[in-house]
Amino acid sequence: MNLLAPSILSADFSNLAQQIRLTEIGGADLIHCDVMDGQFVPNLTIGPLIVEAAKRCTKLPIDVHLMIVSPDALIPEFAKAGAAYITVHQEAVPHLHRTIQLIKSLNCKVGVAINPATPISTLKNILEDVDLVLVMSVNPGFGGQQFIPSSLPKIEELKNLREKFNYSYQIEIDGGVNKNTVQKIKEAGCDIFVAGSSIFHAENITAATTELKNSIL
Ligand code: DX5
Ligand code: ZN
Repeated sequence: MNLLAPSILSADFSNLAQQIRLTEIGGADLIHCDVMDGQFVPNLTIGPLIVEAAKRCTKLPIDVHLMIVSPDALIPEFAKAGAAYITVHQEAVPHLHRTIQLIKSLNCKVGVAINPATPISTLKNILEDVDLVLVMSVNPGFGGQQFIPSSLPKIEELKNLREKFNYSYQIEIDGGVNKNTVQKIKEAGCDIFVAGSSIFHAENITAATTELKNSIL
């Protein structure tokens, strides 16, 4: 079953509990938290403190997307904060296999993310070790950017590799997901759809969540 993961990056942080609840009522499956360090990406956002607060607002699993350099020292903090999934960027981690093992040792599901300019082939040697592959469909750093279509063949490639080698990862897309782009992403074979601005900037957050959820099922 396909899953919808609202990204709280576009939420009103002065009212986080209520905003998360509105998406939960609308049919959200995961809560996506974008962690940015001002180095790997040109923006600075949240840390384990807010992830822990988000965790207390909802029964939904927390999907942590780390856009930070040298994440190893902080990964245990995010696990402790209640992350169900912890995803690191291939481009930000020099010893990817080690970082993946670290996340697994903390009993979290492990994801690896790639930027729009990074090919799937860079993941070849770790695809069997991960629970999730996150395909960035915008350059990470900000919500509200336009979907980059070259991410679609990447989803298809990941789906084919999963079939061919019997891998078990889920395929997640992040960036520019809205009612205009969602159909072709679904057709490409995506499993988890992250959506920020199209949910939290909508007039009715619950209705926007439900509309997107219905279109991915
Ligand atoms: C971008 C983040 C996304 C972002 C998506 O760097 O990783 O999760 O919130 O926002 P939208 O859905 O507005 O493109
Ligand atoms: Zn994200």
